[in-house]
Amino acid sequence: MLLLSGGLGAGKTTLTKGLVAALGAVGEVTSPTFTLLRTYATEPVVAHVDCWRLEQLGEVADLGLDELLDDGAVAVVEWGEAAEQLFGEDALHVVMDVAKDVGDAQGDAQGDDAARGVRVVTVTAGGPSWAARLARLVDRALAEGLDAR
Ligand SMILES: Nc1ncnc2c1ncn2[C@@H]1O[C@H](COP(=O)(O)OP(=O)(O)O)[C@@H](O)[C@H]1O
Ligand SMILES: [Mg+2]
Repeated sequence: MLLLSGGLGAGKTTLTKGLVAALGAVGEVTSPTFTLLRTYATEPVVAHVDCWRLEQLGEVADLGLDELLDDGAVAVVEWGEAAEQLFGEDALHVVMDVAKDVGDAQGDAQGDDAARGVRVVTVTAGGPSWAARLARLVDRALAEGLDAR
């Protein structure tokens, strides 16, 4: 379970797109803002949830996410902070933000900064299984030359 936070344009859907592509799905990834949940025929299956429009968290409970997780799916939840208490401890918390100074330097005066700027991504492991995975993720990020710390 990945809980993605960060304002509109932070890059939550783009990150999900990358994950889905890396796990072998073809086709388009868009925020499931109206459908609330979309699944992708990846291995493992990615269940993409968008909590942006959820008036009450009860709606998430009706999505059948638990069954998908039990079957080995990876859930990626946009606006995950809204549903944090529902999903419990065992999650990777990913907070995304556009680095404003870099964005301003590269982008137009207005508007396009979010689409151009460098992202600052703060990743926190909730629970022991994610702590182990996070250590591997940091190693990998360093190996890829990212500014990880
Ligand atoms: N790491 C990134 N570097 C540059 N541009 C990005 C990055 N992540 C997202 N974008 C761009 O920012 C815009 C908004 O991204 P999106 O993933 O839709 O945000 P969110 O789902 O958080 O609202 C898109 O135009 C996307 O191409
Ligand atoms: Mg989105």
